[in-house]
Formats: sequence, C-alpha cells, structure tokens
Amino acid sequence: MRFVMKTLPNVAEHRCEKDRLDPLSPLEELLAAEITERRRLRRELDVRNCALDAAATHIIIGDATRPGWPVVYMNRAVARDFGYEPHELLGKGPSAFFPNDLNQVQLEGITRALSDGREARTEMRGRRKDGTTFWMGLFIAPVKDASGGITHYVGVGADITARLEQERTQRQLQDQLYSEMQERERMAIELRLAQKLESVGRLAAGVAHEINTPIQYVGDGVAFLESAHADQERLIAAYRDAFFRLGSGEPAASVLEAVRNAEQEVDLEFLRVEIPKAFVRTLEGVGRVASIVRAMKEFAHPDANAQSPADLNHAIETTLLVAHNEYKYSAQVEAKLGSIPEVICNVGELNQVLLNLIVNAAHAIQDSGKDASTGRITITSTAARDGVVISIADNGCGIPDENLEKIFDPFFTTKPVGRGTGQGLAIVRSIVAEKHGGSLEARSTVGVGTRFTIRLPINGRASATQPKAPRAA
Ligand SMILES: Nc1ncnc2c1ncn2[C@@H]1O[C@H](COP(=O)(O)OP(=O)(O)OP(=O)(O)O)[C@@H](O)[C@H]1O
Ligand SMILES: [Mg+2]
Repeated sequence: MRFVMKTLPNVAEHRCEKDRLDPLSPLEELLAAEITERRRLRRELDVRNCALDAAATHIIIGDATRPGWPVVYMNRAVARDFGYEPHELLGKGPSAFFPNDLNQVQLEGITRALSDGREARTEMRGRRKDGTTFWMGLFIAPVKDASGGITHYVGVGADITARLEQERTQRQLQDQLYSEMQERERMAIELRLAQKLESVGRLAAGVAHEINTPIQYVGDGVAFLESAHADQERLIAAYRDAFFRLGSGEPAASVLEAVRNAEQEVDLEFLRVEIPKAFVRTLEGVGRVASIVRAMKEFAHPDANAQSPADLNHAIETTLLVAHNEYKYSAQVEAKLGSIPEVICNVGELNQVLLNLIVNAAHAIQDSGKDASTGRITITSTAARDGVVISIADNGCGIPDENLEKIFDPFFTTKPVGRGTGQGLAIVRSIVAEKHGGSLEARSTVGVGTRFTIRLPINGRASATQPKAPRAA
C-alpha cells in the first residue's frame, strides 16, 4: 500500500510529464484518484491535529474496546501539562494520568457513565510525571459505532487548579467577611447595651431624686395620720369616760363640759378636714412613686431581640418620666402626641433613642444659656403613610454646618469628658435605621435650635424595603 501511495502518483506524474500522448490506464487513473483523495484527507487530518495541538484544552481519546481503555490519541497540551513525551502515554490507561488512589470515586463514576453510554462531568486530581498533582475539570463522552456499541471515549479537560484556588480564596474571604460582620454586629449590640446600662445608671440617681419628693409627701402624710390617730384615741378615751360617768349618775352638764374640752384639745374640726386630705396626699405620693418605678422598669426592660407592637406615645411618656431630672432645670417639655398606630419595634431600644435625643436637647439648651423658664423641648408624634413620625425639637445652641455631617459618627462629641462620649447619636442611628428600618434626619440652625425627625415603619424592620441611611441636613 505504501508502495502504491508513494510510487503511483510519481508514475502518474512522470507519465503525464514525460509522455502526455500516452494516457493512463483506467486502473492507474483509479489509483491516482484514490491516492489524491487520501493525500487530501491526510492534509485535512494534519491541519486538524495542528489545531488540536495548538489548543490549551486537553483532549484524550481512548479505546473502549480494549482492556484498561488505553489512550490512542492525545493532543500536545496533555503531554505538556502531565510532563511526559507523547509516546510515553500512548497505550496507557486513564489511571496513568489520574491515579486511582486520588480519584477512586470519580473513576468509578466515569466507568459507570461510559458503560451506560452516558456522558460524565467531573473534577479529578491529575498526577504529573514528577509526582506533583493538579486539579482537572473533565468532560468525558462515549463514541459509538453504527450499531450503538461504544468503541472509544473522548475526554476534554482543562487545568482548573487556579480556578479552584481562586474559589477557595474567595470562600475564605467571604467567611472572613461574614465573621467580621458578625463580630461587628456583636460589638454594636455590646455598645448599645453598655450605653443603655450607663444611661440607666445615670438615670438611677435622677430617679432616686424624683422619688424623694413624693416619698416626702408620703412620710409627712403618714406622720400626720399617726399624730391624728393618737388625738382620736385620746378623744375616744374621753367619750368612754363620759359614758361611764353618765352611767354612774354624774350630772350631764359637767360630763358634756369634759367632752367639749377634750374635743377642743385635739382640734376635732381640724382633724376631720385634714385627715382625708392627708390620705389623698399620701396615696398620690405612693401612686407617683409607683409610676416612676414602673416607668424605670419599662425603660430598663431587658431587651429581647424580638420586636412586638408598642405604643410609642406611652414610650415617650415613660422616657420623659424617668429622664425628668435630666431636663427639668433646663427646659419645659411640651409633648404634642397625636393619634398613632402601634409600631412593631423593640420598645426598650426606642426608649434609649428618645432618652439620647432628650438629653442632647437639654444639654444644647444649657449651652445656649437658657434655663427652665426659657428653654423648650417639643416632642411630637404623628401618623404617616405606613409609619409613624416622631420629632424632638429644642431651642438650644444649634449645630454648626461643619459638625452636622459628623454628629452620627461614633465618638464624635463637642462635650467635655464626663458630659458626653459621642456614642449617643451613633447608637440612635443604628437602632432606628439598622434595627428598625427607619430613617433619621437632623436639621439645625445655630442660635435657633435643632430638630431630629425619626420615621419608623409600622410593621417593623421586615417591612422596610430599604433602610434609608440617616441624613444630616
Ligand atoms: N440637640 C442638639 N443640639 C446641639 N448639638 C447637638 C444636639 N444633639 C447632638 N448635638 C451635637 O452632636 C454631638 C454628638 O452627639 P451624641 O449624642 O452622639 O454624643 P454626646 O451627646 O456628645 O455624648 P453621649 O451621647 O455619648 O453622652 C454632641 O456632642 C453635640 O455637639
Ligand atoms: Mg448625646
């Protein structure tokens, strides 16, 4: 055959060149055509091999009819990336490239798929001649003959080590980011809690003072009732004595005189007017103490993370009650509380927000030189579409424009040590925007005052489509 392929065309060419008048026999013509076709096919094959060798993708063809499925073709990328000469790999089975010990599960899967006439996609560890390994992504397909029998398999693959490495790095970065976010959230919770404990501690002194006044009413009332009771006992003794003396026949006039004297001595008329008043004052005092204690308890209510419906007007009243000592020397507070729906929220956290804003307002009024007769804090609550709006305005010193953008930054403060740490508004923002999906706005004019406006969605955090970043304006 080789002889024919090599010589016959030469003969044909020679004959045609040398003796154009002597035509080829039909057999020679047939052979020449056949040889020309084979040469064309060979050239085509060479071009295809060239293209396959130029590809970076690994292409392997194995004989599925022979035991061990030996490789019958591979492109240059396979030999190059596995570190072999092509002839060293031809005739070897897939386990020469992909050792069983590293790829047992995948090799079993591929064998099963190919035996069933299916394609398989997998990732395997390839081992180079020098023993080093790398990851390959592989697509393997069976090649069938006309009768459907599997004759070969074709494997197309690529080194995916860099991609896997990149994915691993990305996963590591994601994990790191996630744990940093968790850590940040944990620190934010701790900060909120610490600030809350600090404010509860600070309020405790004020609350003790607030409780002191009604307790004094109660003390005075009880002391008066005690002495009134002693007077009444003396009077009862005088009445008993009168009964005894009348029973033993003493003249009524002298007995009545003694009774009248006893009544004058204890000032019976005064007792009859003042005892009921003393009861009212004492009960009022007890009621006031009870309401302050209840407000303090509500204010310091241990926060569950869960949110539940709450009346924010009641929250404003509670906070004003516990914070009374913080603002009573600086301002009159006017609460214009409208009819608002309940809001799903963590009310303990919103109490903390209100307290921070009220204390800031009181400080700003003090800084403006005003006092309780001229300072004014106005708190309003109004219903809005799908939400509630609360505003806290003061006629304090105001905030200069250059500070307005910074007031929500953690630890930004213009106050001396001991009066402020700069955490208040950062916590207010975190609670309103991040925890409740609300928004917060500050408007201020130096020398005139400041207004903070809080908008909260009625249905809590989940209903807020996008938590709006707080804006200072
Ligand atoms: N109502 C206000 N009027 C004027 N300035 C204000 C007002 N509220 C806040 N500020 C300014 O914003 C700064 C930051 O307030 P923030 O509540 O965050 O911290 P702070 O009050 O200084 O300290 P902390 O609240 O931690 O005790 C304040 O120092 C003050 O300069
Ligand atoms: Mg503050």
